[in-house]
Amino acid sequence: MTTTKKATYTRMDQSTPEDWASDDSYREQNLKHLPDSVMAMLKQLREKATGESMNGYDHSLQTATRAYDDGADDETIFIALLHDIGQVVSEENHSEVAAAILRPYISDRSHWIVQHHGIFQGYYFWHHIGKDRNARDAYRDNPYFDACVQWCDKYDQRAFDPNYPTKPLEFFEPIVRRVFGREPWPT
Ligand SMILES: [Fe+2]
Ligand SMILES: [Fe+2]
Repeated sequence: MTTTKKATYTRMDQSTPEDWASDDSYREQNLKHLPDSVMAMLKQLREKATGESMNGYDHSLQTATRAYDDGADDETIFIALLHDIGQVVSEENHSEVAAAILRPYISDRSHWIVQHHGIFQGYYFWHHIGKDRNARDAYRDNPYFDACVQWCDKYDQRAFDPNYPTKPLEFFEPIVRRVFGREPWPT
């Protein structure tokens, strides 16, 4: 049901308990749009300039396809599809941006993988650009270290092959809606 109830304050310090009386319908309305909003971000990666061999949208679809083909669970496929959405606004810290957007809807493990995938991906090319490819070693003691190594190796770093049979976004849409739609979300 669409709600039109609005608070009446002009300054927060003058708001009343009535202004803050919980109204979950706004939350429900916004959650309904969330999958489409995030997939719209993903589609923007088609337009982003990149020196890589494949645009970020096709790379994301291939990363997700590789996770799917590997028999990964919904959440692993979900983060494979969306791990680079932070690139819409930032290259340098795109891992952290994507991780923050997805944080409420995924497990600690998945969040950690998305948040650190940039550094772990560095293992495959940073030695070509004068950076330390082993920078990921600083996280060796983390319980999610091995999972992040595996995820990057099997899905992310291999997903630049124009000849890999990659599935379209429509194929992954139900997974995106399922993960965003499940409640309570993992913490
Ligand atoms: Fe990335
Ligand atoms: Fe990536």
